[in-house]
Amino acid sequence: MKKELEKLKNEFEGVIKKVSDKDSLEKLKNEFLGRKGKVKSLMKNVASLADEERKVIGKIANEIKDAIEVSYGLKEKELEVQEYATIVDREWMDVTQPGTFAEQGHLHPVTKTIYEIEDIFSKIGFTRIPVPEVDWDHYAFETLNMPKDHPARDDWETFFIDAPEGKKGKLVVIPHVSNVQVRAMEDYELPFRALYIGRSYRRQSDTSHSPMFHQFEILMIDEGVNFTHLRGVIEHFVHSYFGPDRSIRLRPHHFRFTEPSFEVDISCGLCSGTGELDNIQCKMCKEGWLELAGAGMTHPNVLKAGGVDTKKYTALAFAFGIERTMMMRAGMNVDDIRTLYKNDLRFVRQF
Ligand code: PHE
Repeated sequence: MKKELEKLKNEFEGVIKKVSDKDSLEKLKNEFLGRKGKVKSLMKNVASLADEERKVIGKIANEIKDAIEVSYGLKEKELEVQEYATIVDREWMDVTQPGTFAEQGHLHPVTKTIYEIEDIFSKIGFTRIPVPEVDWDHYAFETLNMPKDHPARDDWETFFIDAPEGKKGKLVVIPHVSNVQVRAMEDYELPFRALYIGRSYRRQSDTSHSPMFHQFEILMIDEGVNFTHLRGVIEHFVHSYFGPDRSIRLRPHHFRFTEPSFEVDISCGLCSGTGELDNIQCKMCKEGWLELAGAGMTHPNVLKAGGVDTKKYTALAFAFGIERTMMMRAGMNVDDIRTLYKNDLRFVRQF
């Protein structure tokens, strides 16, 4: 009997070594220690033994049961450790590794420039106001001191909208953002400092003109606004945007809506305003200066059209083309301005 018990134990220890998962381990335990297990059925015979012998065998049987339990416990632990190790293996990750990101875009260089311009002028008290992109002739020309059939209108190569004429004339896609001037006088309380930025459209398309381009314009109306303010505000922009060592030059010009009127040049960044680089004519400017903007003191007729008391208030206005301004600072080597709007990612990703 004792031998048989020992045999059972050895058998158990033999098989348990080969067990590699919890289910088979459970089955094995039942097979040996369960209610209908091998140990129980062997012990059935113990009842027929003499008292003395029964005690001895009983003790041995218990020892063997314990031994089996111990092996079972050890194996169970071992399997758990193994299982844990495979989980760790399977689910391991290096949290310090850079993640995989969805590809991120960025703002178009023109949009970035617009935000920058807004920032520069907000520092000296200018508020950005909206620009209607489609507007009446009344705001685009008429109230800007350009009566119907005035030849000055031809300079703007305007696109007209094929729509019935209203009380304020024909509809146009704005050829400049100056349509906002009289609108602002109508809409805002005086005095004010306004910045407006929008798309302008002209029937021009060549390497230096895109039929759609951007302008930003400044309109400042107050008591005692004069030419020195005009120069000062332009200089503030040029120094903030291009750097403090650039100078500006105002050349007399003619616009119907300003008097006097100017064209604004800034000294060339490439040749520092000399027009020469190593004794060769500067490729960028040819003569030291780059033309960038139109400017002037607002014409009294325009102020009157906007209901402004011209005895009390004067105003200054100027406008820059944004693409040109941006390309000049970046020293962008773009031989065709229209490249900006071709949606070619290889181009826009560079900025
Ligand atoms: N609107 C003019 C243009 O587009 C520029 C300008 C604005 C000139 C304001 C003077 C004052 O050419």
